[in-house]
Amino acid sequence: MAFAQCPVPGMAELSPLSSEELDRRIVEAKRALGDQLVILGHHYQRDDVIRFADYRGDSLQLSRIAAGLHDVRYIVFCGVHFMAETADILTGDRQTVILPDQNAGCSMADMAEVQDVEECWDMLTARYGETILPVTYVNSSAAVKAFVGRHGGLTCTSSNAERVFEYAFSIKPRILFLPDQHLGRNTAVKLGISLDAAAVYDPGEMELSFPHGGNDPRVILWKGHCSVHQRFEPGHVLAVREKYPGIRVIVHPECRYETVQLADESGSTDYIIRAIRSAPPGTEWAVGTEHNLVHRLAAEHPEQRIISLNEMVCPCLTMNRIDRPHLLDALEHAAAGQPIGVIRVSEDTARWAKLAIDRMLDVS
Ligand code: 13P
Ligand code: SF4
Repeated sequence: MAFAQCPVPGMAELSPLSSEELDRRIVEAKRALGDQLVILGHHYQRDDVIRFADYRGDSLQLSRIAAGLHDVRYIVFCGVHFMAETADILTGDRQTVILPDQNAGCSMADMAEVQDVEECWDMLTARYGETILPVTYVNSSAAVKAFVGRHGGLTCTSSNAERVFEYAFSIKPRILFLPDQHLGRNTAVKLGISLDAAAVYDPGEMELSFPHGGNDPRVILWKGHCSVHQRFEPGHVLAVREKYPGIRVIVHPECRYETVQLADESGSTDYIIRAIRSAPPGTEWAVGTEHNLVHRLAAEHPEQRIISLNEMVCPCLTMNRIDRPHLLDALEHAAAGQPIGVIRVSEDTARWAKLAIDRMLDVS
C-alpha cells in the first residue's frame, strides 16, 4: 500500500548521533534510571519513540496509569502538553513529569483561553441562569479544567464522552462543551439530542449561534476543532467506498459530524485499535485519524488492508515533535538529576482541575 504522505522529519535526521547511537543511549539512560522512571506514550507517537514507552494508551488510559504511579520519580510523557499537565495534576508533589519537547502543544487545546471561557460563561449564565454544567475535553489547558472544576463540572475524553454527558445531564439541563465542537456535537447526537438543540459559541465574535435552527440549546459547543481530524471530509468517505467497495470506514469522533455520520464506526484511538485487532483477516479499513497510528496498524496487521481515509491530511505536527533526540536529552538530564522539560501546574489550578478530572474518573 502506498502512502502519499511523507514521514515528518524529526530532529533525529538532524542529530549528530547515528540512529544506532540514539537507540543505544536511550536504552542506557533508561537502564540508569531504573524503577525511578516510567515512560508513557500516546498512540499518536512516532514508531521510533513509542517503542521506548513502558505504557501505551489513549488519553483516558494514560491518565489512569499516571494516577497509579505513586512511587515513580520521573514520568516522561511522550505525548502533548495537556496530557503531561494532566499527569502532573494526578501525581504527587515529589514526582516530576517531563515533556521531552515543551513545544509539543495541541492546537485544539490552544483554541480555548480561560479568559475567553470566563466571558462566555458570564454571557451564558446571564441568559440561561444556573442551568448549565461546563464539561471540557481533556484536550484543554489546566486553567480551563480548573475553571470547569470550580463550576461543578468535569472533564471527558473521547472514550467516555457519552457517559460524562449522561452524568452532566443528570445534574443540569444544559452543557457548555469545550473546546471541540465536533466531539461535542457527535456525542450529543449519539445521545439522541437533535442538531437544533446544539448551539455554537464563537469566542472570536463572542456570539452564540444556532447553525441548525432552534433557540433552546441542550449543548453549547465551543467553536474549536482539531486541525488534523477536521480535514477528514464526507467526500473522502464516498471516494474510498467507491474505490474499495465493502471497505469499513472508522474515524475518531474529533472528525466533523457529517463524516462521522457516514462512517461505519467512530471511537477513540483505543476503540479504533480494538476494532481492527478483533476483525477477521481480509477486512479492509479506511481509518480517519493521525497517520502514525494508521501506519502502525497497517504494519501490525498485514492480514488486513488498512489505509488512511485521506492520505493527504497533515500529521499532528505537535505529537511528532517528540523524537529520539528530545527523548534522549530528557532522559539523560533526568539521569543526571537535572531534569529539563518539567511540567508543573500551580497548586491552586491543579486543585480545581483535579476535581474535574477525578469526577470524570469516578463516572467512567
Ligand atoms: P484519544 O483520547 O482517543 O487518545 O485522542 C486524543 C487526541 O488528541 C486525539 O486527537
Ligand atoms: Fe490536538 Fe488534534 Fe493533535 Fe490530537 S491530533 S493532539 S486534538 S492537534
